[in-house]
Amino acid sequence: MPVALTGATGFLGSHLAAHLLAAGTAVRAVVRNPERGAWLAEAGAQLAAADLDHPAALEAAFRGARAVVANAALGSNLGTLEDFVRTNVGGVENTLRAAASAGVQRVVLISSVAVYRTRIRTFQNESGERYGHVKRPFVWSDLTTDWRYAMTKCIGEDRALALAAELGLKLTVLRPGPIYGSRDSRWTARLLGYHRRRLLLAPTVGVPMVHAGDVAGAVAGALGTDASVGRAYNLAGPPRTLPVLLAALKRLSGRGPLVVPVPVPLWVGYDTTAAARDLGFRSRPLDEGLQEVLLGQAAQREAK
Ligand SMILES: NC(=O)c1ccc[n+]([C@@H]2O[C@H](COP(=O)([O-])OP(=O)(O)OC[C@H]3O[C@@H](n4cnc5c(N)ncnc54)[C@H](OP(=O)(O)O)[C@@H]3O)[C@@H](O)[C@H]2O)c1
Repeated sequence: MPVALTGATGFLGSHLAAHLLAAGTAVRAVVRNPERGAWLAEAGAQLAAADLDHPAALEAAFRGARAVVANAALGSNLGTLEDFVRTNVGGVENTLRAAASAGVQRVVLISSVAVYRTRIRTFQNESGERYGHVKRPFVWSDLTTDWRYAMTKCIGEDRALALAAELGLKLTVLRPGPIYGSRDSRWTARLLGYHRRRLLLAPTVGVPMVHAGDVAGAVAGALGTDASVGRAYNLAGPPRTLPVLLAALKRLSGRGPLVVPVPVPLWVGYDTTAAARDLGFRSRPLDEGLQEVLLGQAAQREAK
């Protein structure tokens, strides 16, 4: 029986699908645009068309699956407040209800560390204070994360936990930090843009980025055991600064800008002890993760 994966045509979704397929797990890629999912069918996934706004289509797409990975969402800075509520709250509700109607009990929800109130120079664990359900006047994370995203991911998590209890679903919530990896048009694309420069002033803020393949590994770990049911887990790497990332890219590619570090003694971190213990989560070494990014970039260039 396949694992149904929403948002399979997105950045993380593509890594989740590839990881599960490589491990011999049957995948049903639930996509809103099947044309964009042609490569998934070629890679061996089943394709099902469904928008998060359409409960009946979701239910049909989930029927016969052994689990649902609720990955589809609207990312930071991509819409209006109404769009965020519809997708990240309504879409999660529709996904869980459709899973229950289709007879699928096991659900893994991809949430985000954006649900926390940002704390600097500390490794927050899963009981850290969260953003909440209303817009705060100002929080530090407003400088880096769209508050509409943070707030609706927070509400989406809570609705998912409440619905899981009501519908008898076995739910695990995963909270990745900023994700990097090949095929990422946001964070990683920005990093590669800096890598192409000749000179860069780079602040030394530490960011707990995690490779998409390591998030995929944790999803597979969650699907493999019920130990994580009813719990939420941080998935993040050690805080890394832009000068460190660019130095690693230079080491791996033999080129890169002259980097002038701008000292900013801030970092944000997350405790991943629970994910390591229950899901087998590990954050790969930086060089390994960035090598995957460079190989992906080369493959994309070749395909053009
Ligand atoms: N990227 C990060 O740094 C990061 C960090 C923490 C958590 N996350 C979480 O990881 C998950 C995946 O994010 P991502 O970075 O891979 O973003 P992404 O590349 O934008 O992928 C989002 C996916 O959701 C799909 N989607 C959006 N609205 C939909 C709708 N109404 N109906 C059906 N599908 C819809 C998109 O479909 P199309 O392909 O058709 O556009 C896309 O496949 C999200 O839950 C996000 O909150 C991401």
